[in-house]
Amino acid sequence: MARGRTVGPHGPVHPTGGIPLTLQSHDTPARTDIRTDTVNPLRRLTLDDLRRRTSMKWRAHPDDVLPLWVAEMDAPLAEPVARALTRAVAEGDTGYPVDGAEYADALAAFAERRWNWRVETEHTALVPDVMLGVVEMLGLVTDPGDAVIVNPPVYPPFYAFVEHAGRRIVEAPLGAEHRLDFSALEDAYARAVAEGRPAVHLLCNPHNPTGTVHTRAELERVAELAREHGIRVVSDEIHAPLVLPGAVHVPYLSVRGSDDAFALLSASKAWNLAGCKAALAVAGPESAADLARMPEEVGHGASHLGVIAHVAALRYGDDWLDALLAGVDENRRLLVELLDRHLPDVHHRTPQGTYLAWLDCRALGLGDDPAAVFLERGRVALNSGLDFGTGGAGYVRLNLATSPEILTEAVRRMATVL
Ligand SMILES: Cc1ncc(COP(=O)(O)O)c(C=O)c1O
Repeated sequence: MARGRTVGPHGPVHPTGGIPLTLQSHDTPARTDIRTDTVNPLRRLTLDDLRRRTSMKWRAHPDDVLPLWVAEMDAPLAEPVARALTRAVAEGDTGYPVDGAEYADALAAFAERRWNWRVETEHTALVPDVMLGVVEMLGLVTDPGDAVIVNPPVYPPFYAFVEHAGRRIVEAPLGAEHRLDFSALEDAYARAVAEGRPAVHLLCNPHNPTGTVHTRAELERVAELAREHGIRVVSDEIHAPLVLPGAVHVPYLSVRGSDDAFALLSASKAWNLAGCKAALAVAGPESAADLARMPEEVGHGASHLGVIAHVAALRYGDDWLDALLAGVDENRRLLVELLDRHLPDVHHRTPQGTYLAWLDCRALGLGDDPAAVFLERGRVALNSGLDFGTGGAGYVRLNLATSPEILTEAVRRMATVL
């Protein structure tokens, strides 16, 4: 994995930083990046800083609740991103995005540096965000009533968006150690195409909520089975930059047999840009003609500020990302210690990627929805496992992208409900 610029001295850091407005272009890096972007971003904001936020994570619950649920991060923006956005606002550069070309170039360079994967930029298209991009891909290769295979427990909007698009969910649950279960997958594939209709496998790569990072061998097996059944794969790779030390992200489109697939990529999860809408659809060589049928207008749903932010993140956000990954790595180890100490009956597999932890609370005797109990009695907001499909009952999802202090206090509060 390539690393970014040389590391300079760590000066005193203010959470939001003094953001200069006198640069050459939106995303030109400056010396201040070197000072701040190598410091663990998860240790830079206080609870008071965070409570001033107006986004979903911080506003959905009363102030006495610690929120470790929705996938937003308790970190300041990477300096190059903050600077690019600040400059655009200062200059009133808030119009329409011209197209996704700059975003595709920035993604291609990032993918080459980090994953040794060559993105064919001419086979990409700007989409408003990852989930709307998924829906567009479904529209290109399936009709209402056709099947979409998912691997529960999985990101709840996979169900909501697929059903809203009039497609039918077919589940192929994950198997042992939260890995793809190929006999369940084969069975689901066979059911999905039983009536001779097209179908899509909506793959979560890496997997939310378990943090499973699929291996090349596993993805090749997916490609082989999908081909055998005539199923098209749509790979959601929004968590790809968040693969942690010890694992390696394998882009689905880089595996043998994946030429007729699609992938969705975005800087939004790794740089905390969910409020800055923009994502890219990428087609394999055999699906490029399908992607070309998508109306160009779909890209108008991306915001210009989103494109500016994502380009800056992918071009100049490596140092910040590496510091973040080190912070998440630290927190995933801290969580093991905290659970050992306070909640030894909660089981989990340490995530290989993402900043999410999937906790098996079935031994606690809190019923199918322990998140409801942790919220009501412990004043900690987690995601209920019930929303993640088959296999979610008795589980909760915890967001590790916070400070070690908040994580420690959250687990301590969870233990008080017992
Ligand atoms: C697997 C997965 N896909 C998509 C999204 C949402 O992405 P977007 O906001 O770009 O639609 C998330 C958000 O957490 C996610 O975890």
